[in-house]
Amino acid sequence: MQFRSIAISVVAVASMAAAQLTVTTPSAANWWVAKSTNVLQWSCKADNVPQTFTVLIGNQNPAVLVQPMAIIAIQNNYDCSVLITQDQANQAAGTGYEVLLANPINNTDVYARSEAFEIKPLGSLYPTQQAEQVASASAAAASASTTAASSSTKKGNSAAGLGASLVLAAAGVVGGVLAVL
Ligand SMILES: *[C@@H]1O[C@H](CO)[C@@H](O)[C@H](O)[C@H]1NC(C)=O
Repeated sequence: MQFRSIAISVVAVASMAAAQLTVTTPSAANWWVAKSTNVLQWSCKADNVPQTFTVLIGNQNPAVLVQPMAIIAIQNNYDCSVLITQDQANQAAGTGYEVLLANPINNTDVYARSEAFEIKPLGSLYPTQQAEQVASASAAAASASTTAASSSTKKGNSAAGLGASLVLAAAGVVGGVLAVL
C-alpha cells in the first residue's frame, strides 16, 4: 500500500514538472564562464508558459548581488534558448548564482528560478552541451563578423571583445572534440 502511494506521488510530481516553466541551463551541472558568451535555456514547450518574461541574474549571497539584476528586459518564450553575452551579464566568477524568469511588469513575480549555479573563471571549458550551442552560434557569428569586417574596418571594442570570447569558446570545443577522438 505504501509502495502504491509513493508511485502515485511520483507521477503527480512528474506531471507538475512538465507543466511548469523551468530554467534548464544554467543549472548546478551546467555552469557559466565569466567574461564569455553563455547559454540560457528554458522549458519553452511546457504548458501555460507566459509568452514573454524578464530575465534576471541574482545570487543567494546578498554580498555578491544585493538584488536580482535584469539582463534581458523582454524575452520571448518561443526562442527557447538565447546566448547571453558578456555585455548583457558580466558577473564575477563565483558560486550561488541564479537566473530568474519574471513578469516583465513586476519583477518580484518570479515565474521560474534556476538551480544555483557557478560562474567559472574566464578560460574554463563550457559544459559539453553548452559548448555545442556556443560553437554553432560562434560559427554563425564568425561568418557575420567576416562580412562586417569587410564592409567596415572600424569596429567597437565590445564587438572585438565578443569576437575574442567566441574564438576562445571555439578553441574549447575543438579541444573537447579532439579528446573524444
Ligand atoms: C508583484 O508580484 C508580487 C509577487 O507575486 C506580489 O506580491 C505583488 O503584489 C506584485 N506587485 C504589484 C504592484 O502587483
